[in-house]
Amino acid sequence: MSGAAFSADPLPGKVAVARRCHPSLPFDVERVRADFPALEQTIHGKPLAYLDNAASAQKPQAMIDAVTSAYTHNYSNVHRGVHTLSQRATEAYEGAREIARRFMGAARPEEIVFVRGTTEGINLVAHSFVRPRLAPGDEVLISAMEHHSNIVPWQIVCEETGARLRVAPITDRGEIDLDAFEDLLTDRTRMVAVVHVSNALGTINPARRIVELASRRGIPTLFDGAQAAPHLELDVAELGCDFYTISGHKLFGPTGIGALYGRFERLAAMKPYEGGGEMIRSVTFEATEYNDPPHRFEAGTPHIVGAIGLGAAMCYVEETGLDAIAAHEHELLIHATKRLGEIPQVRLIGTAAEKAAVLSFVVEGIHAHDVGTILDHQGVAVRVGHHCAQPLMDRYGVPATARASFAFYNTRQEVDRLVDGLHQLLEFFGP
Ligand code: ALA
Repeated sequence: MSGAAFSADPLPGKVAVARRCHPSLPFDVERVRADFPALEQTIHGKPLAYLDNAASAQKPQAMIDAVTSAYTHNYSNVHRGVHTLSQRATEAYEGAREIARRFMGAARPEEIVFVRGTTEGINLVAHSFVRPRLAPGDEVLISAMEHHSNIVPWQIVCEETGARLRVAPITDRGEIDLDAFEDLLTDRTRMVAVVHVSNALGTINPARRIVELASRRGIPTLFDGAQAAPHLELDVAELGCDFYTISGHKLFGPTGIGALYGRFERLAAMKPYEGGGEMIRSVTFEATEYNDPPHRFEAGTPHIVGAIGLGAAMCYVEETGLDAIAAHEHELLIHATKRLGEIPQVRLIGTAAEKAAVLSFVVEGIHAHDVGTILDHQGVAVRVGHHCAQPLMDRYGVPATARASFAFYNTRQEVDRLVDGLHQLLEFFGP
């Protein structure tokens, strides 16, 4: 394996702790692939080419081992336990928070709230931060390329308060029209919430510029970073946003865990999202005093082992090296864009200048579901559908696309197998 630095040492007493990880070896896709047991299988008799990473990514052995070790030797509930296992579990859980702090570039661990995923992170901010600040006629600004999880929570709080959801348009290439975006920032705008990397188009949005435009007017910002975290080096402090949220399962970690970064002053001024154990300092029947962030927002027993697994996955990514990951994926993107561009019946949806390795496309005259099914028979896994972005599909006048989304363990040969599969599809449906 490429040597993830997260300790999955099964010896009692040894728990995972946060420490800085640096790539120790040059990037080698074959060595990386050997760390992912799921990639070794065949599907319908063909080697698996897993190109559905934007939906969910496969898991490195180091992450699986960290989860197994946590459950096997170091498991108990966290916080307040005086016995050894509880202390070990607490150390590992809070160690994972420190890893997430470092991975996201936050100034302090108290700015990292463990959530179920990006969806919960956005809902938490919508309900605890934005809703109390909304009055009738106020506005929340999003973009036309948002995932449903960055549309519906804002619709809910706008409906409840009489506020208005505004949508910044995008160009045909799939880039936010920044002039229109700026025009939509008004003295009624209470929040800007934008996807960093689009799951359906691959567009990398100009997050710095968006923060600049919003903060010049004192408007807080949130980024949906679900698709950015596996591909780009994050630095929320440098970016200057107020909130940034990511999902573990797209980052080679477990399902059901993610992280929300919130600037500490913002979190400290926010009411809890849910009530229960852990989020309190003291409770009487008359009144409850809330705990400080981040615990104020982590009611109940948290997803302890999920957080530990997420920490292990983040260490794995750091150890692999985000620069090397970006370079490898960019090469895949260029190769795939060129090869798909050679097929006249294929139309790419999303051709932004700045893109992550996501290719959405339609094949003339063939339903996306048929594209997905026939590729699956070639062992090539792609996603088909609206990708939880129905308004975006409407923008392009298509009900669905097929989407190949790459991770650092994918290869040029797998891109070529996608292209071969599309040729077979066209022959099958041919005139
Ligand atoms: N949001 C996930 C995707 O893009 C499920 O496929």
